[in-house]
Amino acid sequence: MPGQRADVKELKARLDIVSIISRYVTLIKSGSGFKGKCPFHKDDTPSMTVSAEKGLWHCFGCGEGGDVIGFVMQIERLSFLEAVRRLAEEVGMSFDTAEDGARDELRSLMADVANAFSNNLRSDAGEKARDYLLNRGYPESCWMTYGLGYALPGWDNVKRTFSRHGEAILLKLGLLVQGDKGTYDRFRDRTIFPILDLSGRPVGFGGRTFEGEPKYLNSSQTPLFDKGRLVYGISWARERMSQTRTAVLVEGYTDVLSLHQADITNAVGSMGTSLTQGQAELLKRFVDEVVIAYDQDAAGSAASLKGMQILRNIGLGVRVAQLPVGEDPDGFVRNQGSEAMQEILDAALPFHEFFIESLKARHDVTTIRGKEQLLEDAREFYRSVRSSALREEIERQIADLVDLSVESVRRELPRRPHPRDDESPPQVIAEHWGIEEHLLALVLRGEITWDAIELHVLPEDFSEANQPIAQRLAAGLSDLSELMSELDEEGARRASFYALAPLEIDVERTIEDAKRRMGHLPAIEKRLAIIDSEIAASGETEDWKRWEELMKEKADLRVASIRAMDAKRRGMHEQQSEEERSESEAS
Ligand code: UTP
Ligand code: MN
Repeated sequence: MPGQRADVKELKARLDIVSIISRYVTLIKSGSGFKGKCPFHKDDTPSMTVSAEKGLWHCFGCGEGGDVIGFVMQIERLSFLEAVRRLAEEVGMSFDTAEDGARDELRSLMADVANAFSNNLRSDAGEKARDYLLNRGYPESCWMTYGLGYALPGWDNVKRTFSRHGEAILLKLGLLVQGDKGTYDRFRDRTIFPILDLSGRPVGFGGRTFEGEPKYLNSSQTPLFDKGRLVYGISWARERMSQTRTAVLVEGYTDVLSLHQADITNAVGSMGTSLTQGQAELLKRFVDEVVIAYDQDAAGSAASLKGMQILRNIGLGVRVAQLPVGEDPDGFVRNQGSEAMQEILDAALPFHEFFIESLKARHDVTTIRGKEQLLEDAREFYRSVRSSALREEIERQIADLVDLSVESVRRELPRRPHPRDDESPPQVIAEHWGIEEHLLALVLRGEITWDAIELHVLPEDFSEANQPIAQRLAAGLSDLSELMSELDEEGARRASFYALAPLEIDVERTIEDAKRRMGHLPAIEKRLAIIDSEIAASGETEDWKRWEELMKEKADLRVASIRAMDAKRRGMHEQQSEEERSESEAS
């Protein structure tokens, strides 16, 4: 990431969003902002709004939106970094030199550490890890190819070996962990899988235990390693991916390695089941289609379905491979061989078929409630389908599933016209807003602060799509420019919409509704109910810094909860006396 958050903010402050967008679009003054024909879809009416004051743009026709950097990224098809560099040049700011020098130092240190791990593997101390890898079917030839290594037991091997670089930089790279009594090595007595960037440079590590928990320990987020934007194995897979325009997406490190060894060299790993928007965007640069090969039980989980929707939403074809229950690609390819695996991949189901199968498995259609839930569950997917032939097919299959007529299924699954096909005026779209959208809009426009709802609504109460925005607002990030920099494309689209949509929102009513309908329990109690397990987890992973933070938070919550209870009691008194009053009036 070029520059710190503050530099990007400074850059945006120096740029005039109206004049930059004017280079591509004729803007006319309208109200407090500007309007123009959107360059991102066929726009006959000016559907795009630009607000100089807020530094945002949004198209109410196609739904695109964001800040000035996002606009330049989209229209010039640049990465974030490229867009920032280009814009910075215009206003005479520089993000390069010092920053790049620092990155080079970080990179070369990571390379040295990776090297040290791979030397350990070949040393006397590495026997256990060598045996482990050989037993798993990874011969010596592939240790080198994939840079595999071994982190020695003991608390300070990396710390001591690389002490000349200083602890700060080792911490920054996620190689050390900050504990109560100082820092210590993150990776101890683990087999090491280096995570390489697109160019094949190590930017992070995954370390597997021989026994105990957690099974895999990964590098934390660092200036070099953004787990949300990288897939494991990309540098080995990119060539084959470009050739075939297809990627095989698996969960784990070992799945990737075993598939590559079996000559399925377009395999990459999402490092767990929750694929992110950033990872999807990375894949989109190389392929048109992704074949998902997750463990059978994990494939239908909410997390992996969400990832598949992300892939679909950015325009990638998705198919889902059907592995035997209980097998992952690593195990399967080792037991059954490369050809059997290839057959499974070739037979992967188109997403809609897989999705309908998973609906069947997840809902009990013998009950009315089950049918309702199934339809509810199917809605988002249905809306995202653009082909009318496919839509009809899905309607038919779902009608069969729930034993209703195709007509009533069609009524139940209202198709929200895809934004790009549609130029509905903003009011119509805004009619679909619920409490969540109203709340976020109020906060984003500065009409209320998060404090107003803090005790009643948690970010987790918001739907997944709105959570990234809610989380940042709840964390106190109130500056629009900073907030936009932290959101991904989908988040930017939403935030610019909420901030700019011309809509009157009743403040009091929204807050009341939110308290009543979104928060089931006051936020304090909700947080208290889950914090103990987080404390235990951070203890187990020996993340003492986090542990301490959580303990402190728990103490604060206790105090807040007593205060809130007092306030509630006082409130009840008031209410009581009011009731008494009205009773006495009535009599
Ligand atoms: P799995 O538990 O399926 O691991 O997690 P695996 O690759 O089959 O592991 P082996 O075969 O037992 O060695 C899949 C992926 O999820 C991430 C890792 O990226 C892993 O490869 N993961 C899993 C973690 O990050 N931490 C964990 O504790 C577990
Ligand atoms: Mn496995």
